[in-house]
Amino acid sequence: RNMVSAELSMLVSLLLALAASTGSARIPHAGTATSNSSDHSALLSFKSLIRDDPLQALESWGSRSTPMCQWHGVACGRRGRRRGRVVALDLGDLNLLGAVSASVANLTFLRRLHLPGNRLHGAVPSALGHLRYLKRLNLSDNSLDGAIPPSLSRCRQLDSISLGYNRLKGKIPWKLAALPNLGLLELRRNELQGEIPHELGSLHNLVVLDLGHNKLQGTIPSEISSLVNLEFVDISNNRLTGEIPPGIGFYIKTQRNQLVGDQ
Ligand SMILES: *[C@@H]1O[C@H](CO)[C@@H](O)[C@H](O)[C@H]1NC(C)=O
Ligand SMILES: *[C@@H]1O[C@H](CO)[C@@H](O)[C@H](O)[C@H]1NC(C)=O
Ligand SMILES: *[C@@H]1O[C@H](CO)[C@@H](O)[C@H](O)[C@H]1NC(C)=O
Repeated sequence: RNMVSAELSMLVSLLLALAASTGSARIPHAGTATSNSSDHSALLSFKSLIRDDPLQALESWGSRSTPMCQWHGVACGRRGRRRGRVVALDLGDLNLLGAVSASVANLTFLRRLHLPGNRLHGAVPSALGHLRYLKRLNLSDNSLDGAIPPSLSRCRQLDSISLGYNRLKGKIPWKLAALPNLGLLELRRNELQGEIPHELGSLHNLVVLDLGHNKLQGTIPSEISSLVNLEFVDISNNRLTGEIPPGIGFYIKTQRNQLVGDQ
């Protein structure tokens, strides 16, 4: 049943994407964030929650003399309806201290949210689920806590999720299995609990699955062993039990669990 509805919603999003690309239909947005001025205010809200910026990376942000699309770390689209709209936020390794503003979700055309290597704390905003064009999400190596928002499953274009090296708790949302293009899911070194959702076995494009150094329990779902594109799995340093499914065709790191046949 899950498979059928996943396929159905995949078909629906394909049709919507087709309709959008031919310009014959417009997809209404949940909010009203539809102009470059809403991008502008979303970026200023983002900045307002950054309490320390030792490298003064955000100094250009909000300056009247620098156009928004030239602010440090901001990339805008060049053509069509993306022209002058923010498509990427690239603010890695800047030691920014603060919380991630939910206003990022108002950057309607955002494709890449790249904020690793900072001191971001608080939750991963569940509003990120509004970013329907988001392809790459990298918030690794921060101090984020709370749960992984299941709403990320609504970002249908996501092809990589990196949330490793944070303090995320709770379960891995099984809904992430609804992401048809997901190639990389990297959640290592958090405090994630519960079982590895067997639903992840429907992520047919998954290449890398890194869940090492968490508190995951239960057995390795056998569904995962049939993923043909999978190349690398790290589930080491968890609390997994049972057997390693036989006939696995990918590299798997399993040490430091309570698995049968574990070295
Ligand atoms: C929004 O676009 C208009 C027209 O292209 C431009 O004049 C204006 O400076 C832009 N505003 C921002 C905040 O980039
Ligand atoms: C997003 O934009 C809308 C409309 O401008 C605004 O009402 C809302 O507060 C914004 N959301 C966030 C989280 O900033
Ligand atoms: C996320 O960012 C970190 C730090 O820059 C980098 O090492 C990692 O490869 C990135 N993840 C992806 C999927 O690109």
